[in-house]
Amino acid sequence: MNISINISAGSNESTSQIKIIKKAKNNASGLTFKYDGKNLNCEIVSDDSVSDNDQAESLRQSGHKLWNVIHDRKIKSVIFRSDIDFKNACIYLAEGLLLSTYVFDKYKSEKQDCHLKAVYIDDKNVSNENTSTLYKTVEANFIARDLVNEPPAKLTAPDLSKSIVSLGKKYGFNTTVLEKAKIQSLKMGGLLSVNLGSETPPTFNILEWKPKGAKNKKPLVLIGKGVVYDTGGLSLKPTTNSMDLMKSDMAGSAAVIGAFCALASMNLPLHVIGLIAATDNRPGKNAYAPGDVIHMFDGTSVEVMNTDAEGRLTLADALSYAKQYKPGLVMDIATLTGSAARAIGKEGIVFMGNADTKTLNSLKMSGQKVHERLVLFPLWDDYAEHIKSDIADLKNIGGVEAGAITAGKFLEHFTDYPWIHMDIAGSAFLTSEDSYRGKNATGVGVRLIIEFLNQISNES
Ligand code: BES
Ligand code: ZN
Ligand code: ZN
Repeated sequence: MNISINISAGSNESTSQIKIIKKAKNNASGLTFKYDGKNLNCEIVSDDSVSDNDQAESLRQSGHKLWNVIHDRKIKSVIFRSDIDFKNACIYLAEGLLLSTYVFDKYKSEKQDCHLKAVYIDDKNVSNENTSTLYKTVEANFIARDLVNEPPAKLTAPDLSKSIVSLGKKYGFNTTVLEKAKIQSLKMGGLLSVNLGSETPPTFNILEWKPKGAKNKKPLVLIGKGVVYDTGGLSLKPTTNSMDLMKSDMAGSAAVIGAFCALASMNLPLHVIGLIAATDNRPGKNAYAPGDVIHMFDGTSVEVMNTDAEGRLTLADALSYAKQYKPGLVMDIATLTGSAARAIGKEGIVFMGNADTKTLNSLKMSGQKVHERLVLFPLWDDYAEHIKSDIADLKNIGGVEAGAITAGKFLEHFTDYPWIHMDIAGSAFLTSEDSYRGKNATGVGVRLIIEFLNQISNES
């Protein structure tokens, strides 16, 4: 990100003025502005009769609209002021604006010019810490979006590992990459089976942030689905266009990587481990096939009924690997099922798990705060019946019903600790622009995880 965000005391008449004002009775909400050819004078109406979370989101949306005005007029700097009581109003407005500035133009000959260079906030209730947290969060979101937008041939599993290692060096978290030989000696049958049809070796990536004086004794583990491209394998994706977006099948791992960059740059006092099993899923001549029985890292045998249900196989090995850390909480995030996308659309995240109600609620509240909202699905025992196999311990798909849940139920088998699963299939990649979330990769999960980790570190 090339835009700086700073606290500014007093007026600065030479720059464009943006003021948040209270909504008057019967007054339309939105944005009005005057432009004199050089500077912009803009008023943004905020409605304080709605909940804090809704008010924050509507300010982010206004930030997005403001970005269009600023961008069209090639404005170089702006100063934000607030006339309303809502705390951090300028931060939410700036968040919507900054998130809207994202572009992925590395393969374009002509780069898009971003004229805006500085955002100043003149509000005594906003601290340097607030602006710095915002900057680092937006930067982390952009890192995730960049990784997801990268085309499949440019981001293979070894490429993803290279990115993880270089981001670890830049932001200060530790990284270990397990290569194919090591993965074979560990007998990670889920990851290795999915990789059989590929020309490119898999990798297993371990990220660690362990600051001195970490508040949690038992580490928190974040697991991201790292399928860098999903063709479906031999059960080739059946419906028109369904493969087009599958470079985004590593969006869960991108969210974990982005979150690690933020938590290291924010120096969050929590011990966090990240695990990413990375591979592509292709129908090569050695590819695993429907009917195969494979042996997972923890010894579970799985009858493969559909090679397109590959994410749960790679995640399951990472979930079993996590047991050695005796974690306090494990969270996985994955573009796991079309079923979750159909259930909730781009508007939300489906989640489930066996963590206690307090933890589940706390994550849900973090989701509402950052407007990456979660809906809880059940993991009732009955669903275990759906994934029983005639010849192995489990099969990798259930029936046509409850697909997001049977995938979650499959994952649950590999856990022996408090665990939460998030299915972001609906919200990770968009085919049309949606406000500050943009078009293509959204970086969903990054802001959610950062908010949740901040919450945990404040509580402990
Ligand atoms: N990567 C897909 C899930 C997906 C679908 C992500 C749409 C983003 C958008 C996953 O690997 C998959 O193919 N799941 C199958 C499972 C089925 C074969 C049981 C699905 O959901 O259709
Ligand atoms: Zn698949
Ligand atoms: Zn997939």
